Amino acid sequence: MNVLLIGSGGREHALAWKLAQSNQLKKLYIAPGNPGTAQCGENIPIGAGDTQELLDFARQNQVGLVVVGPEDPLAAGLVDALEAVGIKAFGPSGQAAQLEADKAFAKQLMRSSAVSTAEGQVFDRIKDATAYIASRDEAVVIKAAGLAKGKGVFVCDDPSDGILAAEKIMCDKIFGEAGEKIIVEDKLLGEEASILAFVDGRNIYVMESSQDHKAVGDGDTGPNTGGMGAYSPAPLITEKLMDQITREILVPIVDGMNRNGTPYKGILYAGIMVTAAGPRVLEFNVRFGDPETQPILMRLKSDLLEACLATCEGRLEDITLQWDSRPAVCVVMASGGYPGDYEKGRKITGLKEANETEDVIVFHAGTASRDGDIVTNGGRVLGVTALGNNIADAKENAYRAVDKIKFDGAYCRRDIADKAIKVES
Ligand code: AMP
Ligand code: GLY
Repeated sequence: MNVLLIGSGGREHALAWKLAQSNQLKKLYIAPGNPGTAQCGENIPIGAGDTQELLDFARQNQVGLVVVGPEDPLAAGLVDALEAVGIKAFGPSGQAAQLEADKAFAKQLMRSSAVSTAEGQVFDRIKDATAYIASRDEAVVIKAAGLAKGKGVFVCDDPSDGILAAEKIMCDKIFGEAGEKIIVEDKLLGEEASILAFVDGRNIYVMESSQDHKAVGDGDTGPNTGGMGAYSPAPLITEKLMDQITREILVPIVDGMNRNGTPYKGILYAGIMVTAAGPRVLEFNVRFGDPETQPILMRLKSDLLEACLATCEGRLEDITLQWDSRPAVCVVMASGGYPGDYEKGRKITGLKEANETEDVIVFHAGTASRDGDIVTNGGRVLGVTALGNNIADAKENAYRAVDKIKFDGAYCRRDIADKAIKVES
């Protein structure tokens, strides 16, 4: 079967790498892809937002399945457009994708489905938001309701910082339309984990757990990013906790989506805070996480294409996924300045040497090819991912490879997976 994968990030390189291993695959196309995905299939110069061109390409090239990586085309209804012309597509409908694209909708659905999350209120007028924030004397979390590339959340220990954040979002419009509504919610304390599951409308197949590192700096300091590194599994998520998350969060949300008339199909990603009172939802995403996908897929032994097809065809009960018991750690190498402004076009060296390290794969994210070189082309540039006999070993392998890669301004956190190592030892 020919498969068309949409997207160009580190997640898509990991997806392409795994899809390319399927013996059901005839040809893999990636639109638009990156130099990493070009090693797994053929990159096609069509943007993830160019719906009509993607439809035409899929029809002309006998594409049997389209796998949509990022949230924007999902929220814009790409899956609906493909299905309308009879092309199978992996991912939720545009309406179901509102679970990520509209945090106010997600909050409402959690409430009506009795799913535990932080107490919060939705505002569409700055005056009301500031009055509410000012009336509180504890920490608040301010979130743009729409899509903001993982950067739309401000955790403010002081309510006056909360007011500034609300003003930036609603008055300065730093996230454009995505900030027309905001959520003001209580700050939750605990440790985070990402729980990703295949959902076929009815059945839920939960993958191995993982944990992201959202803050730019070591020790979780500085502003939030798209994610600076991840590991899988998250030792914090015991089997008992995973059962509880499935029963109390995933099942009611999938039921709630059905009741709402927006049945859910694709990847359901629950960002969880494990608090002293139990697991609470921070957010839902409607796609694979980036960078969680890199360590998760490195541990997946089974056929990803088959799992995607089973999801689309409503037969998830037929599949069982096998996992490498060894943990994996992904360290993101970013351009200096990210998540703020940064330069592009810096030559990257050492990729080959890093990739030759045993049990290491260097997934490309913001890279480009230029005159035979690979250069930086985004904030998150690479996701250096390694397996190991335990998490400490996987961390060491990942950083050994990281240290072989050089580019001007290269930045990475040095403490990825330390939380898990503490639990492990
Ligand atoms: P979200 O995109 O909603 O997951 O938020 C991004 C990050 O902000 C999360 O991964 C958490 O680190 C943090 N965050 C979001 N909501 C809360 C909350 N209610 N309490 C504490 N931290 C939060
Ligand atoms: N790693 C967080 C996300 O994919 O949204």
